Amino acid sequence: MRDSFGRLITYLRLSVTDRCDLRCRYCMGPHPVFIPKRDVLSLEDLGAIAGAFVDLGVRKIRLTGGEPLVRRGLPTLIAALAVHKAEGRLDEIALSTNGSLLDRHAQALAEAGIARVNVSLDTLDPQVYSRVTGGGGLDRVMGGLMAARQAGMAVKLNCVAAKGLNDGAHVGLVDWAHGNGFDITFIELMPVGDGESRKEFGFLPLESVRAALAARWTLLADDHCSGGPARYLRVAETGRRVGFITAMSAEFCGSCNRVRVDCRGRLHTCLGRSGHHGLKAALDQGPEALRAAILGAITAKPRAHAFQEAASPTPTPGALPERTMNATGG
Ligand code: GTP
Ligand code: 5AD
Ligand code: SF4
Repeated sequence: MRDSFGRLITYLRLSVTDRCDLRCRYCMGPHPVFIPKRDVLSLEDLGAIAGAFVDLGVRKIRLTGGEPLVRRGLPTLIAALAVHKAEGRLDEIALSTNGSLLDRHAQALAEAGIARVNVSLDTLDPQVYSRVTGGGGLDRVMGGLMAARQAGMAVKLNCVAAKGLNDGAHVGLVDWAHGNGFDITFIELMPVGDGESRKEFGFLPLESVRAALAARWTLLADDHCSGGPARYLRVAETGRRVGFITAMSAEFCGSCNRVRVDCRGRLHTCLGRSGHHGLKAALDQGPEALRAAILGAITAKPRAHAFQEAASPTPTPGALPERTMNATGG
């Protein structure tokens, strides 16, 4: 499946719920409006949509949220996806989580076929963690990380780097992550989500994080590619990787290979653009209609995100998405 810019689409991010047990201030703010329950697709419907993407050449599916582990019955969906993997039609089923429920679910997830989890962790300071996440407990995430490691899953930490969030703490985060056997990826703050509560954080270009790490360690080039937007370096002294998602300072859209489907069956062909393609009606009409709807939407995938509009004095009306990050799973 190729878009009109020749990019091969092989990666589906499937958001199974927009609900979350946290309220990260850069994500959705304190008073989120959730998708009405009646509009949320069943896990069977989401599995059928995912299956159509696999038929069209998707090789990697990442389950996201909100917080995917608050969706009851998730193992049923993972089992359905695992069938494609067993048939050799899918390379990987991955999961992005805030980690708060991971201690309970790690073993079952590993057994269901999830080999890698990405866990959000922006700080090692319990007070900062509670403030930023709206009250979550850092100790539960720590327990979840250890449970995931114990269950044999590869763990990567996701750390949003921003002013007023984790200033001066990045070297310490890498030190801690690598010491515990986890890779870590830093993410630039993106203008998606509740603008009001995001205002308390300032943009931090990841070049400054790289420079701080370079002052402490030897950073080696690493051509690892996970199929996501991250570019990686390897720390010679620890042997582990650090990733950089420079969504704002260095655009990576030219090599974009992914699309998103949210929990009401809307296909979003770009994280940083408004607009969507509803797939539920096509799903109800049957496999041919679904296939045609997906292919039509892929043809219309935009060349790049519109994040620069957020800083423009004369932003183009309607270019930036109004949805929050939890609706599409990042
Ligand atoms: P792997 O590379 O498989 O480890 O996953 P990933 O880093 O792509 O996924 P993850 O769910 O861990 O997302 C990390 C961050 O990358 C999130 O903040 C996402 O919003 C961001 N991200 C993922 N894909 C895109 C994209 O296409 N565009 C932009 N701007 N950001 C993205
Ligand atoms: N900018 C950048 N990353 C964000 N995330 C949530 N909201 C934003 C934002 N506005 C991150 C989460 C999680 C990942 C899936 O997306 O912290 O690690
Ligand atoms: Fe929940 Fe993730 Fe959004 Fe935090 S960033 S509120 S954990 S969906």
